[in-house]
Amino acid sequence: MCGIIGYVGKENALPVLIEGLRRESYRGYDSSGVVVFGKDAQIVKAVGKLEALEEKLGSFRIQGGLGVGHVRWATHGGVTEENAHPHADCNGNIFVVHNGIIENYRILREKLEKRGHTFASQTDTEVLSHLIEDFFEGNLEDAVRKALQLVRGTYGLVVIAKQDPEKLVAARLSSPLVLATNTEGGYVASDPAALVSHSNKMVFLEDGEVAVITEHGFQVSDLFNVSKVKEAVELEWSVEEAQKGGYEHFMLKEIMEQSESILNSLRGRLVEKEGKAKLGGLDPVKDRLQNVDRLIISGMGTAYIAALVGEYMLEEHVGIPVEAENAAEFRYRKPIISDNTAFLAISQSGETADTLGALREAKEKGAFTLGIVNAVGATVSRETAAGVYNHAGPEIGVASTKAFTSQLVVLALLTLYLGRQRGMSLVTGQRIAKELGRIPELVRRILDQADRIAVLAEKYWKYSNFLYIGRKYNYPIALEGALKLKEISYTHAEGYGAGEMKHGPIALIDENFPTIAIVPSDSVYEKMISNIQEIKTRKGPVIAIATEGNTEIGDIADDVIYIPKTLEMLTPILAVIPLQLFAYFFGVAKGYDVDKPRNLAKSVTVE
Ligand code: F6R
Repeated sequence: MCGIIGYVGKENALPVLIEGLRRESYRGYDSSGVVVFGKDAQIVKAVGKLEALEEKLGSFRIQGGLGVGHVRWATHGGVTEENAHPHADCNGNIFVVHNGIIENYRILREKLEKRGHTFASQTDTEVLSHLIEDFFEGNLEDAVRKALQLVRGTYGLVVIAKQDPEKLVAARLSSPLVLATNTEGGYVASDPAALVSHSNKMVFLEDGEVAVITEHGFQVSDLFNVSKVKEAVELEWSVEEAQKGGYEHFMLKEIMEQSESILNSLRGRLVEKEGKAKLGGLDPVKDRLQNVDRLIISGMGTAYIAALVGEYMLEEHVGIPVEAENAAEFRYRKPIISDNTAFLAISQSGETADTLGALREAKEKGAFTLGIVNAVGATVSRETAAGVYNHAGPEIGVASTKAFTSQLVVLALLTLYLGRQRGMSLVTGQRIAKELGRIPELVRRILDQADRIAVLAEKYWKYSNFLYIGRKYNYPIALEGALKLKEISYTHAEGYGAGEMKHGPIALIDENFPTIAIVPSDSVYEKMISNIQEIKTRKGPVIAIATEGNTEIGDIADDVIYIPKTLEMLTPILAVIPLQLFAYFFGVAKGYDVDKPRNLAKSVTVE
């Protein structure tokens, strides 16, 4: 969730650093800082938004071709300027920016203090600058290597030193770092989005690697100075894609582009005539997949909710046992895994700590590992045997929207891919493939109703509590609708399977407690109608998400949003869109910064 940027080259470093930090700021942060080496090292830090840092920088004229910057999301030590990065050693020679957590920092700090080092912050990071200072004998990378051999924890870090001033030294363990170069110099960042304006060819560091970046290129080695050969990955993301494209918020832009992002997820992957899905990333492991007799799908937050939908899709159409698992819980259970268990990690960022923890646990126990990842080159994609990229484009808004619908689409493709390997009929395959191909157009029809949904949000925004209910495929969508409302509008919302109502939640219902009922015309429609009637009997206002052509629901619910008819297994992709829009307009009506909800970060890289 913190962001790192470093630059060395011909240009003035400061504008490069600020631009990079701005592009990384979507991850969520509470303070920021930069250091640039010119005639001297100039360090400026500020609490709050990047504008506060820029305001402070206004009075400095920092010139110099080497520098690092950081946006911090506090873990150890409060949100203060002292705790903001970069962190210096005792003499103001060495400066460190760091993402991750140094677990043994207390012991290291005690030892360093005993040796005379004085600390200026409460952070775990500051031990790094002092430790490196301890080992520094004129060559920065040597000192970094020696220091890191004493460190326990996780890091993506970049270090610069006044007494070795032509380079950036970067190192990674469980916290992403990416390098790029062009004719102007060398760059390092924790997020490719910070570098897309400089190059689309990027080199991702692996765990245990150390990079020395100069104006003319870079060298990568391990902690023991054994050289590594690295290949650049070409990214498709353009600078424009990472910008708002005329919308007021990234979240709205990302909701409104779902017709296109879904099309991108489907592109080249449907073979309608044969009723099949082509998933190039899985072809090399096709035979291995044939032997899988159990599938665990895991993720966190919205990605976990996608896993729940996947459980319904795959069990119904592929016929193997599937379990959706919350990664944070899974990693600390004693999961029973056999050689023929496949573990599928779902993650937009591919860097979520708990998802990675669960993946590693499953791998260790012998599972065959797969991933569904949006961020190309991210850790989940590199640590799994095979997988499928979402191709949904960068998701900047903290609340996941287009990544979620893309995850559902990829799960539907996977259902088709595995189903046709395991006895799904040609006719069923063709029906699913054909309907998946129509989804972008059906999504567009829902998005055309955005203005109406904005009016509904205006009508309801003063209510403080909401219940979301759904059944079967749309039970997870009730969870997702409630999660979106909570995140974006800080409004209490609970998602339940409608069958659970009578077992407790119905006690909440009165005229001040609206329910959003997801009630498409599917196999559980009648049961949903009974649940809605029970709510109406208790005077609860009801907003229904129903299928176009339903003539009954208008007489039962207070308000209805209609979605087009589709196959039951694909209804979640459509039903979630009005709920995303409702949460968005609700948050806007309440006057909140919907792109950066309080207390949340885009990529949760610590437990
Ligand atoms: C909710 C949201 C989060 C993420 C979760 C997992 O809107 O965005 O719940 O879905 O933190 O993130 P990824 O998918 O990056 O692993």
